[in-house]
Amino acid sequence: MSENRDNQKVVLTCAQPTGKLHLGNYLGAVQNWVKMCDGHECYYGVVDMHAITIPYVPADLRKNVYECAAQYMACGLDPDKCNLFLQSSVAGHAELAWILGCICPIGQLERMTQYKDKARKHADAINSGLLYYPVLMAADILIYNADLVPVGEDQKQHLEITRDLAQKFNNTYSPTFTLPEPFIPKSGARIMSLQSPESKMSKSDPNQNGTLYITDKPDVLSKKIMSAVTDSEGSVRRSPDKPGVSNLINIMAALAERSPESVEKEFDGRGYGDFKKAVAEVVIEKLSPVRERYEAIIPDKTLIESALKRGSEAAQRRASRTMAKVYRKVGFMKFE
Ligand code: TRP
Repeated sequence: MSENRDNQKVVLTCAQPTGKLHLGNYLGAVQNWVKMCDGHECYYGVVDMHAITIPYVPADLRKNVYECAAQYMACGLDPDKCNLFLQSSVAGHAELAWILGCICPIGQLERMTQYKDKARKHADAINSGLLYYPVLMAADILIYNADLVPVGEDQKQHLEITRDLAQKFNNTYSPTFTLPEPFIPKSGARIMSLQSPESKMSKSDPNQNGTLYITDKPDVLSKKIMSAVTDSEGSVRRSPDKPGVSNLINIMAALAERSPESVEKEFDGRGYGDFKKAVAEVVIEKLSPVRERYEAIIPDKTLIESALKRGSEAAQRRASRTMAKVYRKVGFMKFE
């Protein structure tokens, strides 16, 4: 995609190349990124530099980047309509992070919730990169002067620090960065685990039967849905004390793009077995094309690489313009 479509807002978001996408990612995030490609200039990054802030295996990282890009493409992110880039292939992210780090109070980083969580989880491997993570993320966003950043609730604090840093840079030097707005999709159904429906569907759920992956085969999807936790009441309706059934209703409604009420009406008086079968049918119908596209893309490394290369080159052009300004403003010398 070409950059510089002047009147369009710039959208940027990034994802870590970790593992498989599940239905919650698909409905809550990726579908929305696909929609935003129309009418916006979009930059979507695979952030491999963020991925090395916790212990990892280099060969796995490379494989995960291919899989991550292939999954996004399979979900409908068209490299002709957005710039799908690889963070480590665009010079400037780390340079800008360094400069922003020099105006970022260390206390603010130490107070970040995600840092505290991860530091607790990886207590034996708390490196400076983990602390610095939000500064690199701020650089990811500011280097493109993004207007809108689609993120989940859990990333709100990172957006706040990004805005703080942009403002501080603008005040310290001169107006340079756009203050980005988080774009958190209005309500929408929160997709919960099928096995413990009081928590979000997650790839780190200890019970993997609770998580529907976009690359799961139909028989696997069907088995997971048929064994979803419900309750003993036996009626298909949403209620806080029926989290399992409510979740299945929401999944069906979101995928079939209909209201939860119409699902409740359709299955009024019918049993859970019937209902689950119908849910499985919709899930399979919607996810099968995605899985099939994924299976076609993943063996084609050249296709994936050329998409990422093209996106990274476009991203580089925009990033370089910002960095030229930033270097001048902070007083770095430029040799002719
Ligand atoms: N921290 C984000 C996450 O874990 C990933 C990310 C890195 C990001 N850089 C970003 C998201 C820039 C939006 C914009 O989900």
